[in-house]
Amino acid sequence: MSNTSRLHHVLPITATGVDGRLYIGGCDLVALADRFGTPLYVYDVATMNDAVSRYEAALEAHYPGSWEITYAAKAFWCTAMAQWASTRGLGLDVVSGGELFIGTQAGFPPQRIHFHGNNKADAELAMALEVGVGRVVLDHEAEVDRLERLAAARGEEVTVWLRVAPGIDVHTHDYVVTGRADTKFGVPLAEDTAMRVARRILRSPHLRLVGLHAHLGSQLFEAMPVARAAQVLIDLAAALRDLGFVLHELSPGGGWGVPYTPEMSPAPVEPYVAAVSQATVVACQRHGMEIPRLVLEPGRSLVARAGVALYRVGGVKHQSDRTFVLIDGGLADNPRPALYGAKYTAVVANRVGDPATEVVAVAGPYCESGDVLIQEISLPPVRPGDLLAVPVSGAYHLSMASNYNAARRPAALWLVDGDAHVIQERESLEDLIRRDRPLPDGVTR
Ligand SMILES: Cc1ncc(COP(=O)(O)O)c(C=O)c1O
Repeated sequence: MSNTSRLHHVLPITATGVDGRLYIGGCDLVALADRFGTPLYVYDVATMNDAVSRYEAALEAHYPGSWEITYAAKAFWCTAMAQWASTRGLGLDVVSGGELFIGTQAGFPPQRIHFHGNNKADAELAMALEVGVGRVVLDHEAEVDRLERLAAARGEEVTVWLRVAPGIDVHTHDYVVTGRADTKFGVPLAEDTAMRVARRILRSPHLRLVGLHAHLGSQLFEAMPVARAAQVLIDLAAALRDLGFVLHELSPGGGWGVPYTPEMSPAPVEPYVAAVSQATVVACQRHGMEIPRLVLEPGRSLVARAGVALYRVGGVKHQSDRTFVLIDGGLADNPRPALYGAKYTAVVANRVGDPATEVVAVAGPYCESGDVLIQEISLPPVRPGDLLAVPVSGAYHLSMASNYNAARRPAALWLVDGDAHVIQERESLEDLIRRDRPLPDGVTR
């Protein structure tokens, strides 16, 4: 695909240029933008399926025991995603009653759901017990007490994991590091806290501890820290054996990264899965333990590349020594550049193949100077009315989208074999006031 070939590892796997127009999943993006409006998010199902297959093949090749791929709903979650994850045989990681509700309403099998979260409300825990989630991932001691009370009141035994903060640092943005000793997530290994809380769970007649979990952070490109987390959890399991604990399930979390720009190298999952598998097997051998079921929890690496955001160019503005391409979305549908300084690339979807000759910034319409989606990119000369496609928009965009400036959250489409299915409608103006209640007469005086 002429000048988009350098983008082949960031565009969805079905991307192709036809007569200068970008096609994904057999669909003409220009036609979709005309029909559904912009900003518009499209998801290429073939790319999501390919990502799952790569995890499956790597686990099959490298892990000798049983395993499970559990999709982290926070990356992007809606009814269609739940249907897809269910059909693909994935497990599901939810962190709130809301994510749980979406999953169960869509018919996702509750036994395959893991309920994470560092401060689950009693109502959320009760909901988890009511629907019968497979695992509740306990985060701290007070939560152990609360879940135990709820389980006792129902006369039930609940199957749980314990989340551990293994004190392992990783190279990623500070805001997405979660496994250091000073993190808000999980129980620290230090001062035997993890041992103490695990003992507490093991004594409970209402809680059945079957697994240990850690998650180090997101957008990781080094496998070794994750492999180290698996070892640390197995060491803890070994220390708990005297209390009758058997490590049936081990989850060293998710977090594998993806390239966002052509300058970033591809990040195949196989070496990561191989390293974690090997570390697990070796650590279990060292302790004379059976290998547990290995549970990986990818979010971003399953869906980020499948998603493309489409924006209409409103104007092109020369400001001092900068040129701004002004588009109709940004901060409200994708807060990542403002939150983490995340970098993106873009393609002019209606003129694929035109040579990139101008260096521009791409900015949205929201009232924040931080609403700059791309600080610097070479593009062909861009004109009002052009359609800009931003690859790698599938994870942590729509799930983090806001109504800032009363923006209406975009529509999302599911692209498969030349068909486009609406999976989320664009919000309407009425949606923006649906929760509002007018004050009674006289109160505004
Ligand atoms: C416990 C847990 N598992 C899995 C994930 C998924 O991470 P990612 O989307 O980076 O794979 C997260 C993300 O924060 C998480 O907190």
